[in-house]
Amino acid sequence: MIKLAPSILAADYADLRNEIRKIEEAGASYLHLDVMDGHFVPAISFGMCVITSLRKITDIVFDVHLMITDPERYIEDFAKCGADIITIHVEACSCIDETIDKIHALGLKASIAINPKTPVEKIIPYLDKVDMILVMSVEPGFGGQKYIDDCTQKIVQVRQMIEERHLDVDLEVDGGIGKGNVKMVVDAGANVIVAGSAVFNGDVQQNVNDIMNAIHAD
Ligand code: DX5
Ligand code: ZN
Repeated sequence: MIKLAPSILAADYADLRNEIRKIEEAGASYLHLDVMDGHFVPAISFGMCVITSLRKITDIVFDVHLMITDPERYIEDFAKCGADIITIHVEACSCIDETIDKIHALGLKASIAINPKTPVEKIIPYLDKVDMILVMSVEPGFGGQKYIDDCTQKIVQVRQMIEERHLDVDLEVDGGIGKGNVKMVVDAGANVIVAGSAVFNGDVQQNVNDIMNAIHAD
C-alpha cells in the first residue's frame, strides 16, 4: 500500500488543528513534520513545542524529518514529544549507527535521508538497520520547489538495493511531488510519498483524492 505523508510545512500555522483534521479525514497515513535548524538548512521551522501540542490532538503517525546538524543531540526530546518515526540525514550526523540504535532503543522507527547530491552508496552501511530510507527530490530547506528529475534514478537504485537484500524497508520520497508526477515516483519504487504544497494549497480533500487517484491510474 502506498502511504501519503502530508508535510505540515505548507499548512496554515494559525489553524493546525483543522489542517490536521482535514488530512486525517482525507485518509493520509502519516503527518510529515519538517524540523529545520537554520544550520543544516538555511530555514528555521518549528521544534519540540509545536510537536508536543500537536500530539495531544491527533493519533496519526508522526513522521519527523530532522533537517538539523548533529541530530543525535535531540533524539530523546523528539521521542518524548511524540515522534513515531525519526529521520536523520547522512550528511548531518557523524555517528549514524549509534543514532539509529538510540532511536530504536526508544521504541521508534529509524530512517535515514539523502540529499539530491549525495550518492546512494552512502546509505548502504545502514540498509539492514533502518525502517525507512528517505530520498530527497529537492534540496532540503524549503517547500514548494520543483522536483529534480535526476532523483528518479536514485529511487530506482534504492528500491533495487532493498529488493536485492530482501529487506522490509520503506522508501519515502520528499520534495516537489504532486498529482502530475506522483505516479512516476511510485513506479520508480517509492511507497511513502511526502507532499506539502500539493496537499495544503487549496482544497485538502480534493488534493489528496487527486494524488491518490493519480497513483492508482493505469
Ligand atoms: C523540504 C521538506 C519537504 C517539503 C515538501 O525541505 O523536507 O518535506 O515540505 O514540500 P513540497 O511538497 O511543497 O515540495
Ligand atoms: Zn521533509
